[in-house]
Amino acid sequence: MITHDRIPHYYDWLSRYVQLSNWLAYRDRFAGFTMHKSLKPPGEPRDDRGGLRAGLEYCNDRMLAVAAEHGLPAAPRVLDAGCGFGGTMFHWQQRVGGRYDGLTLSKVQVDVGERHAHAQGIADACRFHRRSYDVALDPDYDAIVAIESLIHAPDLGWTIANLAGALRPGGVLLVLDDMATGDLDAARPADAALVRANWGCPGGLPSDADFRAAIEGAGLRVVAEEDFSPLLRVRGERLLARQERVLARLKRAVPLAPVRTIASAFLGGVVLERLRGSGDVGYRLIVARRPGEVA
Ligand SMILES: C[S@@+](CC[C@H](N)C(=O)[O-])C[C@H]1O[C@@H](n2cnc3c(N)ncnc32)[C@H](O)[C@@H]1O
Repeated sequence: MITHDRIPHYYDWLSRYVQLSNWLAYRDRFAGFTMHKSLKPPGEPRDDRGGLRAGLEYCNDRMLAVAAEHGLPAAPRVLDAGCGFGGTMFHWQQRVGGRYDGLTLSKVQVDVGERHAHAQGIADACRFHRRSYDVALDPDYDAIVAIESLIHAPDLGWTIANLAGALRPGGVLLVLDDMATGDLDAARPADAALVRANWGCPGGLPSDADFRAAIEGAGLRVVAEEDFSPLLRVRGERLLARQERVLARLKRAVPLAPVRTIASAFLGGVVLERLRGSGDVGYRLIVARRPGEVA
């Protein structure tokens, strides 16, 4: 079981693995500095390398466009709550300038992100902190982004209230994540248990309704939603079942922490892919605004 206290370790190992797999796929260890799913941008072929790389950037571009539609000021102050290697911060900073704080629990991610920021001469603009998004935050931000990070929150309502308190009046929160479309434990109990055990969300995968309730409970107003699920690959049931068996066997057979951690992450990913195929999970963007005028 990937419990909350194991998340830093989980992401340290995954971060090392991602660098290797990026090298194999793109001949670039850091390929966009992202750790989120690769999407098939509308109109792009998936099967060429250019299309694949575009898939790494699409969600950062799309989220920036949506934030701009909802009042993101010039040179914004942005918090990335679960920043990984900092891909979203680097992408936005290059396009609209501004100052960014990235929070992650992984030391490997902080080291990689800081090294790149220094090499690019943007270390003052893009800062990394090895710190939880659940600690007290300054109420400084025009936008907060959270890509595939809030499902790890032990108490989603508490986490979102903390983030909402860090937004300036008129500021926007953008959450992109796998979200159950209903009660996953009731609809798909075996898969729900696999996701709990392997995806670092021992409390269960929150639904889009859970996210909306937490956001509205924190005094924000949902202003936009998008379903990115159609942009994700879903492979056939038989192939996914075969991968699941191999990964489960690997976890049992190899008692080494790095192997078990990476096998867990893949296993969670395979199960989520199946749940997206059946419509029980969606990959959704929810955008919410704090009432008030941008200063
Ligand atoms: C799947 S990665 C996504 C990284 C990044 N958002 C991206 O799109 O490339 C999840 C990130 O959430 C971070 N995370 C998980 N729980 C966290 C917490 N309580 N506080 C801060 N970051 C957290 C992890 O350290 C990791 O950086």
